[in-house]
Amino acid sequence: MVRIHDAPDTATLDSSSTSGATQQDETLGPAAFDLHLPDLPSEQEQQGSAGPSDAFVSADREDGFDTVNQKPEMKLVVISNRVAPFDPNKPQTGGLAAGLEPVVERSGAVWMGSSENRGDGSEQPLPLVKAGAGDVAKLDLPEADYSGYYTGFSNSTLWPALHSLPKRMSSSKADYDSYRKINEFMARAAFDLRDRDAFWVHDYHLLPLGADLHRLGIEKPTGFFLHTPWPTPDMIKRVPNHHELMKSMLEYDLLGFQTNRDLNNFLACLRTYFGLKSKDGVVTSERGQTRLQKFPIGIDPKQFAEYLAAELSLAEQEKISLLLQNFEGAKFAIGVDRLDYTKGIDKRVEGFNQLLAGEPGSISLLQIAPSSRADVDEYRKYKEDVENAINHVNAEHGTDEWRPIHYTNDSFSQSALARLYRAAHVGVVTPLRDGMNLVAKEYVAAQDPKDPGVLVLSKFAGAAEDFNGDEALLVDPNHPQEIADAISKAANMPLEERVKRWRSMMDKIESYTIHDWSADYLRELDKGSITVPADQFHHLGLGWTNEAQMPLYQSYAAGLSAYNEIDPADDALKEAAYGEVKSAFEALAVPLKHTQDRLWDLPAATASRDGHRGQALGARED
Ligand code: F6P
Repeated sequence: MVRIHDAPDTATLDSSSTSGATQQDETLGPAAFDLHLPDLPSEQEQQGSAGPSDAFVSADREDGFDTVNQKPEMKLVVISNRVAPFDPNKPQTGGLAAGLEPVVERSGAVWMGSSENRGDGSEQPLPLVKAGAGDVAKLDLPEADYSGYYTGFSNSTLWPALHSLPKRMSSSKADYDSYRKINEFMARAAFDLRDRDAFWVHDYHLLPLGADLHRLGIEKPTGFFLHTPWPTPDMIKRVPNHHELMKSMLEYDLLGFQTNRDLNNFLACLRTYFGLKSKDGVVTSERGQTRLQKFPIGIDPKQFAEYLAAELSLAEQEKISLLLQNFEGAKFAIGVDRLDYTKGIDKRVEGFNQLLAGEPGSISLLQIAPSSRADVDEYRKYKEDVENAINHVNAEHGTDEWRPIHYTNDSFSQSALARLYRAAHVGVVTPLRDGMNLVAKEYVAAQDPKDPGVLVLSKFAGAAEDFNGDEALLVDPNHPQEIADAISKAANMPLEERVKRWRSMMDKIESYTIHDWSADYLRELDKGSITVPADQFHHLGLGWTNEAQMPLYQSYAAGLSAYNEIDPADDALKEAAYGEVKSAFEALAVPLKHTQDRLWDLPAATASRDGHRGQALGARED
């Protein structure tokens, strides 16, 4: 790839001094303010200025794709709130940690996130600690803002809104301020890593981080992946500052979602609140281009098989044996969820209640529910609700010898969970709404191919976009009777049908693993920042701009012609008009330079003057 070179222009005015305006030629050329575009190329470099297609020479590939597939050495920065424990014997806390741990260990990325300690907000050198080929930097986030950021805006405002549960929402301006401050703090810490190749930010805690990175002058490709669902326009408008937050999301070059549902909801929000439409999966905003795609997160099925075979600590071995003793010779279903109201545990328990009313003693439930976000009121209330419901079912349907529901808040290692999944006849994954839900995939991966269990899955988990009704038993998680019927069907399903359903799900899990997910995302991120056809760009004489920036250009051009029409003898008027042209130019210069910087590395396939669309676009109908 080569750089795009810009057209020459004739600077006729010293932009640093308005007082000099009237001493210059009366006509301003477009480069009159070129101090603001320091990266515009020199005369010598300006040969290929007719357009991107002239400027690009595809030196390395002939098939029209860019070369990023062959670039595994990308020096990546991963940023998320929580960082994985990097210890197979320690429990994972959520899909994000499980998903990113192998990426960092294998790729040599630096993973930045929150430590368990709080700080005074002063900036410290990055505390890098080796993790496989990569490094982890856990930051002591500022004490003063942590609760407003984590307990407040992230988990009391955004989380329920993203899961379309408005009754669980609360919000305050102070929380939002803390959220912004912590994002800015993270961005400042990431500044030390500015020379790495790209930034990959994760999850709703850090929606505005990409914009904060740009504000600090970090111009490397930035991507964001949302692990949770994204809701409809009506729902997101309940979030204070939703407009500002979505605008800041458009500062990312690549936005990744788990499912079509989430991607389409986000696109609907852009249409509703910004009047923006996507073309070939690209949205063009004032800031530039953002690509939007679905990347459904997966698991590592091979590693899961290894977990099954791995030795457990003595203590955990004992814990598992004791639990399994409860079910000896009897059927049981398993639920494994953070104790979170989005997981639908209460409705699942009610489903069991209804099932046991119709089929007494037929099946038990092992519900593992490690406590989560215990500082958030709604979580405390939910814990009580779940425990009351379980006590009720056990009192109603239990006997001296048999307890219907075994419930624990303990956490388990992946190896221990793998054994429990395998022993269970039914996996019950019934969240009210979920980004993906990796428990569903882990349950499937842990099964005995010759005698697999059956997955009962919420229609509203992202995993239900992967697994259809011929594979999992899909249910509405809000309807306990549906859950009851599905568990009953699962528990009595003939072997042949179980094997058929399981094989089909397992094929899908194996064909798109966590490694495919991260590789796909990073390949897309590494394509550079601009992936729109060249026909969407306009050459202004002083650089390339795009449709969204045209109004800024038009106002600059109008100011310029007004200036040029003023009689040179009219010093005062001329000087006032100069001021207006200058500010219009400055408004244009920032996005223009932003676009210009990104065009340097535009993949050859995506830039051609005849508007041909390169394959690298990942074209998609919206
Ligand atoms: O998957 C959503 C998510 O919030 C992740 O970001 C996080 O790792 C997980 O759930 C657990 O949540 P928390 O970090 O608040 O315990």
